[in-house]
Amino acid sequence: MSDCIIAPSILSANFAKLGEDVDAVLAAGADWVHFDVMDNHYVPNLTIGPMVCEALRRHGVTAPIDVHLMVKPVDRIVPDFAKAGATLISFHPEASEHVHRTVQLIKSHGCRAGLVLNPATPVEVLEWVLEELDLVLLMSVNPGFGGQAFIPSALDKLRRVRGMIDRSGKAIRLQIDGGVKVDNIGEIAAAGADTFVAGSAIFNAPDYADVIARMRAAVAA
Ligand code: DX5
Ligand code: ZN
Repeated sequence: MSDCIIAPSILSANFAKLGEDVDAVLAAGADWVHFDVMDNHYVPNLTIGPMVCEALRRHGVTAPIDVHLMVKPVDRIVPDFAKAGATLISFHPEASEHVHRTVQLIKSHGCRAGLVLNPATPVEVLEWVLEELDLVLLMSVNPGFGGQAFIPSALDKLRRVRGMIDRSGKAIRLQIDGGVKVDNIGEIAAAGADTFVAGSAIFNAPDYADVIARMRAAVAA
């Protein structure tokens, strides 16, 4: 599938050598850099902020940076990430008082906007905002940590959201995040995903190019 986007989550990268590791994964064929932002409030973990995004840009990363905000509140950090070079900014509806307003805020800063649904968040939250979005991200683990197991009900949810996107007629990407591996990415793609986040499956492998190639082959099969 030529339209398949592979977005390695740098949550599982080597933070002591982040620039080199990001260069390596992009050279190995990754399309986007998935950038997980956790605040120890909305989720029980603490990671990286706009300074690190800006540092990657200064280091020379030109690939799209796909910022996944797991922070509450959302709005006040959006301009900082736009300034730091984010391409796309996604957020969780539970972390925003006014979901439609946050989407407009992200777009007004020149970034593409995504909405993220946790495993137990109903798809109905998309109903009145879907056409404003560039991307829907379905979580197939509860947010906060890499290396968790894929929750199988995400497959049904993907099929539901794929139907909603197709009926909208808009070019909205359908992204999946959590527990994506070479051996399940085929059925995840068949359920409707076109954009795949994978952290531990890529960064814990000895050969990034080999894993990414095997993921693309499984999506295309
Ligand atoms: C979890 C993050 C994911 C995570 C994916 O909250 O949003 O991006 O790092 O990691 P794996 O692929 O290891 O499940
Ligand atoms: Zn993520």
